Amino acid sequence: SRFIALLPAAGSGSRMASSTPKQYLPLLGEPLMLHTLRALATVAQIEQVVVVLSPEDEWFDLVETALAAPGDHAHPGHAALAQKLRVLRCGGASRAETVRNGLRELASTLDAADWVLVHDAARPCLQAGDVIRLIDSLQSDPVGGLLAVPVADTLKRADAAERVATTVSREQLWRAQTPQMFRHGALLAALSSCADSNITDEASALEAQGLAPRLIMGSERNIKVTYPADLALATLYLQAATS
Ligand code: CTP
Ligand code: MG
Repeated sequence: SRFIALLPAAGSGSRMASSTPKQYLPLLGEPLMLHTLRALATVAQIEQVVVVLSPEDEWFDLVETALAAPGDHAHPGHAALAQKLRVLRCGGASRAETVRNGLRELASTLDAADWVLVHDAARPCLQAGDVIRLIDSLQSDPVGGLLAVPVADTLKRADAAERVATTVSREQLWRAQTPQMFRHGALLAALSSCADSNITDEASALEAQGLAPRLIMGSERNIKVTYPADLALATLYLQAATS
C-alpha cells in the first residue's frame, strides 16, 4: 500500500489575529506552509503531498511562487515537493470537514488500504525523521496511530471557582500531535459517521469506532503555530534544524 500526506490548510487562524492567514505568514522568509509541505515531501515513502485549501483561498500563489523560484539556500526537499504537490480546494467549515472532503476527493485514486498521513499545515517544524519513525512503526499495524509527546507539566482539575479540585496524575497522559496515520478507507468511514463537534483529531474519530490508535513518540519541537508568540518559537526551531 502507498503513503499519502494530506494537509488541512483551510483554517482562518482566528487566534493568530493576523490579516494574512497564519499558514501564509513569513517564516524565515518563506510562507509558513511551505516549510510544512517540504518536510513531508522530503520523506521518500510519501508519494503525494496533498494540501486542502478553502475554496475562497487567494493566498496559495505565495507558496507556488516560492516553490518556482527557490532562493540560493534552496532546501533539499524543494524539488521533491514540486514533484509530489497536489492542491485541492474543497476545505470545509471545520478541520474534520476539510479532512473528510479531501479524503472523498482522493477516493478515486487511492485504495482503501493506502495509508494517509494527516498533518496540520500549521505545524512547520515537523522533521522528516519523526515522519519516518511513524511510518516504520505503523506500516504493519492493524489500526494506525499518531505522533504524541508525554505531558510534562503537573495537571490540575479546577472546580467552578477555579480552585484546585484535584491534581491529575500525568502518568499515561500524552499530547496528541500530527501526522496521524490511518488507512484511507477506515479514516473516511470513521469521519463520515461521527459529529464534527465531537472530534478534534483523526484519532478520536477512530476511537469512536472502538479502535485504539497507537501513540508514537514525537518531538517537543513539532508545535502547532496558534498564537503570535508561536512564530518566534517556530523560527528558532527551524533555524536550529538548518544550522
Ligand atoms: N483547518 C482546516 N479547515 C478548517 C479549520 C482548520 O483545514 N475549517 C486547518 C488549519 O488550517 C490548520 C489545522 O487545521 O492547518 C489546525 O487548525 P488550527 O490550528 O485550529 O487553525 P485555525 O482553525 O486556522 O486557527 P484558529 O482555530 O485560531 O481559528
Ligand atoms: Mg481552529
